[in-house]
Parts: sequence; structure tokens; C-alpha cells
Amino acid sequence: MIKGANILKLRSVEINRTENKKMKRTNNCGELRKTDEGKNVILSGWIHKYRNLGGLVFFDLRDRNGITQVIFDPNNLDENIMEKANRCRNEFVVSVSGTVRVKPDPNKNLATGEIEIAADNILIENASKTPPFNFLDGKSDAKEDLRLQYRYIDLRSAKMTENLLVRHKVMLAVRNYLSGKGFIEIETPTFSKSTPEGARDYLVPCRIFPGTFFALPQSPQVYKQLLMVAGQDKYFQIARCYRDEDARGDRQPEFTQVDIEQSFVTQDEIFEMTEGMFEDLFKKAVGIELKTPFERLTYKEAMDDYGVDKPDLRYGLKLKDITSVTRNSGFQVFSGAECVKFLAVEGLENYSRKQIAVYEDYAKHLGAKGLAFVKYTCGKLDGGISKFLSAGEAEAIIKISGLENDGLIFFGAGKEEMANKVLGAVRIKIAHELKLYDPDEFRFCWITDFPLFAYNEEDERWEAMHHMFTMPKPEFLEDLKRGENLKNILGQLYDLVLNGVELSSGSIRIHDSAVQEKVFSILGMPKEEYESKFGAMLNSFKFGAPPHGGIAHGLDRMIMLMCHEETIRDVIAFPKTKSQSCLMMDAPSDVSPEQLKELSISIEKEK
Ligand code: AMO
Ligand code: AMP
Repeated sequence: MIKGANILKLRSVEINRTENKKMKRTNNCGELRKTDEGKNVILSGWIHKYRNLGGLVFFDLRDRNGITQVIFDPNNLDENIMEKANRCRNEFVVSVSGTVRVKPDPNKNLATGEIEIAADNILIENASKTPPFNFLDGKSDAKEDLRLQYRYIDLRSAKMTENLLVRHKVMLAVRNYLSGKGFIEIETPTFSKSTPEGARDYLVPCRIFPGTFFALPQSPQVYKQLLMVAGQDKYFQIARCYRDEDARGDRQPEFTQVDIEQSFVTQDEIFEMTEGMFEDLFKKAVGIELKTPFERLTYKEAMDDYGVDKPDLRYGLKLKDITSVTRNSGFQVFSGAECVKFLAVEGLENYSRKQIAVYEDYAKHLGAKGLAFVKYTCGKLDGGISKFLSAGEAEAIIKISGLENDGLIFFGAGKEEMANKVLGAVRIKIAHELKLYDPDEFRFCWITDFPLFAYNEEDERWEAMHHMFTMPKPEFLEDLKRGENLKNILGQLYDLVLNGVELSSGSIRIHDSAVQEKVFSILGMPKEEYESKFGAMLNSFKFGAPPHGGIAHGLDRMIMLMCHEETIRDVIAFPKTKSQSCLMMDAPSDVSPEQLKELSISIEKEK
């Protein structure tokens, strides 16, 4: 280790002493073509791949724009230059001058592959230790923790660079599109007040008022509504949001929304504006033409057919309900169940008991009691629970399944939510395993008519399905005012789903303080509490609040799908790990006792 470090030190001293002549680049590493033949150029960048073939030194020189091959030929260059070229290694930063020449054997994998630079001089700008991983194939295959620790190296890879570029293009297109439609970007505070939106808040202690805290916004929801009351009519913001929740593939504690609000607007107008925006930015950022208008499903249709409120419509596999068929079944699992549904998959009829058990375990892991199955072969049901089914039940199941070829049928029985949860998840797992979809297809759909409230059985109270500012559909307003029929009240509430990922959420808002207060009280919030938390908003509604509505798009998720990535971490320059830490900065970290004292905070050590 020490020996290596010393060599590096020696090298850089030498570099400073002997290489003080500056070179100013004339071109980037991705732009030279055959038509540039004969030009004298200077390129600067990182040595992507260094090779020495019998004295000839080749560099693949890389910058953000691409890679260009450079050759140092000892027959044409003096010893001093060859010595410097020989001293270089991968990831050294160099400037090279030379002449563009056409390659006799073009490299089809490179945009610049028709040419190379015959070098006549080199300046070593900086040396590099051997990087902890390489990314020669476009993306590092190192463990993610190592990539995150050395993120400044990981981001040099072609794929990560491309992802950041797509993100930039999307943000630019969003800003242009919305500005063109009369929206203006208005920033809202990061130091805010805690608003209950489902996740825990990140708190910021306030030194001036000991014992008080700001909260980082989970979204700019209250501010954007106040901007409508403030007459700002059409607002947007590329807004950072903070939620203290477990990070997962598509969740980060700190993420970005394209946040939008508009006055005097209808749901259909929001849909149309959104579809236009996605059409525009997909074309501009990734060159893809989308089909609009997007499909629409009600929440009920989505749950009935797919078991989830964010269905991936790139494949079919609809769930079927046979509760009425099996109500008096001899199979007790079915007859005793509130709901019985099934999922029929063609082509799995030869699955072994062991393969099927994997799905059964998965269902149990999700909370189900089991996952009954039957095979469908030669026009009849066979194996699994087939022996418990009457001829009439079997016939009905075959008919309802719509199976045209042999296959396998999985059953979920129990509470409707559980049957949906299990079969919805099994449907996704099977589609992934059998690759039942085209990874290049972008299938958007709106989910509408969500219930306004959901009952939390555990805490025995009503919760807002989305957030507590959503207006019910007009036909349910009287029910809401009377506090009746809560289970069936539908909201003017919608999600946008892309390939099974919830991309966006929005609603038409309440702009009447009495209705808003009623919702707070249904949600079990005492008057003192909602007045203390939402006083400004309730008060503002008494000063001429226009009807308004909006939507927020998850920017990270959008880019993840556009870039065909599995996780939003790969489209965020400096994300947190799954356990919410930053390995590169080593954050979060301790702070000094003096800082804590200033904030009047004492830390209770765990016993
Ligand atoms: P919601 O909470 O549904 O709505 O958020 C909107 C969209 O933001 C994205 N998103 C996330 N992305 C990454 N990491 C997270 N932890 C995370 N949480 C949410 C999702 C989601 O669809 N104020 C309302 C919007 C409105 O009503 O206008 C809101 O924040 O893509
Ligand atoms: P058992 O009667 O518990 O032996 O279950 C017979 C079959 O029914 C097994 O394949 C179980 O996995 C399945 N099963 C049990 N409970 C359920 C349920 N609630 N939903 C679907 N399948 C179930």
C-alpha cells in the first residue's frame, strides 16, 4: 500500500516539474468523424482503456460525450513523449494533441469508431490510483455499496452518464412544456411544518426557539394550494421531498417530484395536460412516441381484474372471481371464504410440485393461508385440489378461466383484500419469471374513482386513501357532510401508472373550510389539532379560495423507467442506500457536543 502511494506521489511531483505546458482542448471525445480527417485537434479526458502492443501505445480516451481512440507510434515520436505515454494507466487524466485519421478497420461499437487520433504530444494532467472497479462494459458490475462509496467514479460510466443526461433532458422538457402552457415555477420552503402525509417527517431543530422543530416537506401540498388561494393560477415546481420511510427499489428518503397545481381545473383537463407533457418529454428525452390518450381504469376495475391499484397492463392474466360458484363448495377453504378468486396461466401445466410450492410459500409469506392450485389439461381439471371440486364447479372454473390451452390455475380464498393481494403479487411474479411483456413498451394508465377513505382495522379508524385535501365526487358530498356511507364515498382522486409503477398522484382539492374541517374530524383529528396543524390553510379558504386541483409526478421513478433501470438509485446522482445512509460522505454522522448544546438537544444513549 505505502509503496504504491509513494510511487503515485513521485509520479505527481514529476508531472508538475516536467509538464507545465498547458493544452487547451479543441473537441470533445465523442464528436470527431470521418469528415474531420486531417484536422489537428486536442482532446482531454480520462484514459478508459490503456494498451501497449509491442511498443505502440493505444488509449481509449473518454469524456462525458464519448470515447476516441488515440495512438502513440514510437516510429514517429520522440522518446520523451513515448515515455509519458507509457507511464499512463487507466483513469489518468490527460490532454493529447494529434491529427485525425481514418481507421482502416472501423470500430462499429463506437460513435467515433471510423477515426483515431495519431498523437504528437501528451500532457498528463493528473494520475489516478487503480480504481476500485471498472466499468468498461458501460456500467460497473461491482457491489452497489462499493459503487455508492466511490460514486464519483461510478458516475463516469457510460450508462450512469446517460441516465443523468436523460434526467437533465426531462427536467428541461418539463420546464419548457409547462411554461408554454402558462405555468410558472415557484419555489416553496424546505424548512416547513410537519403535515401528516403518511410517512414520518425529517425534523430540523431550531436554535432560536429551543425545543421546536421545522419539518422538511413530504411534498409541497399545502403550499401549492395556498398559491392557488394567492391567485397564482398555474404553478409547478421540480420539488425535493423528504420522507422518513424505508428506502426500497422505488423509494428514497429524499426524492424529486414534478409538482403541479392549477385553479378552475377539471380532472379531464389535468389528464390532457399530463398526457401532452409525457408525450413531449418522452420524445425529447428518449426519442419515444407515446400513444395518447392513456387508458383509464377505475380503482374497482383495477382491483377486480389485477388485484392491485397499479396494474402492469403490458400483459393480461386477469384475476377471475368465483365466489358465487364456490359458495356451497365441498372444499371448506372455499365455502368458508368471503371471496374466492383465481389466476389461470397457460403453459405452466408441467410445473412440478416443487415449482408450485415456491408460489405457495410466496403466498404464505404475503400473509395467505395457502395457495390452492389445479392443472388444466386435456380439457379437464387435474391434480391439486381438483378432487375436492364438484363437476359443476370444475366446469364453471374452466369456462370463466377462458383458457384455450393447457395451464395452471392458482386460487386465493379469504378476505377480498387478501385474495387480491396474493393473486395480484403472484400475477406479477409469474409475468416477470416468464417474461410476459416487452421491456421496451411504455404502457400508461390512469386509475380513477379511488375511495376517499380506507378503514384501518388495526387502529380502528378511518384514514385518507391519498391525502386529506381531496374533494369527494359531487354525488358523495352530502354523505360526507353527514359523515355517512364513508366506505363507499369516492374521491376526485387519480393516479398515473406506468408499467406497474405508480408514477403520479393527484386530486381535485377541497376549497371549502367546512368540508375540510369535516374530513379532518372524520379522520379523528380534534379541532385544536387541525387548527394548530392546518390553521393557515383553513383560514385561507375563508378569503376567496378558488376551486383547484393538481398532480405530482415522481421524477425519479419516471427516469428509472425511461432508462430501463431496476431502482431509482441508478438515476439519482448521489442516492442513499437502502438503510438511508450515504456511504460516500459517511452521513448521517455524529455532531459535536457544542452543536448539540446550541440546539438544546441532549442525546439519550441506548442502554
Ligand atoms: P404522493 O405521495 O402520491 O402524492 O407522491 C407523488 C409521487 O411521488 C413519488 N414518490 C416517491 N418517489 C421516490 N421515493 C419516495 N419515497 C416517493 N414517495 C412518493 C411517486 C408518487 O406517485 N402531494 C401529493 C400529490 C398531489 O396530490 O398533488 C403527493 O405527494 O411517484
Ligand atoms: P389444507 O386444507 O389446509 O390442506 O389446504 C389444501 C390446499 O388449499 C393447499 O394447497 C393450500 O395451500 C390451499 N389453501 C389453504 N388455505 C387457502 C386459502 N385461504 N386460499 C387459497 N388456498 C388455500
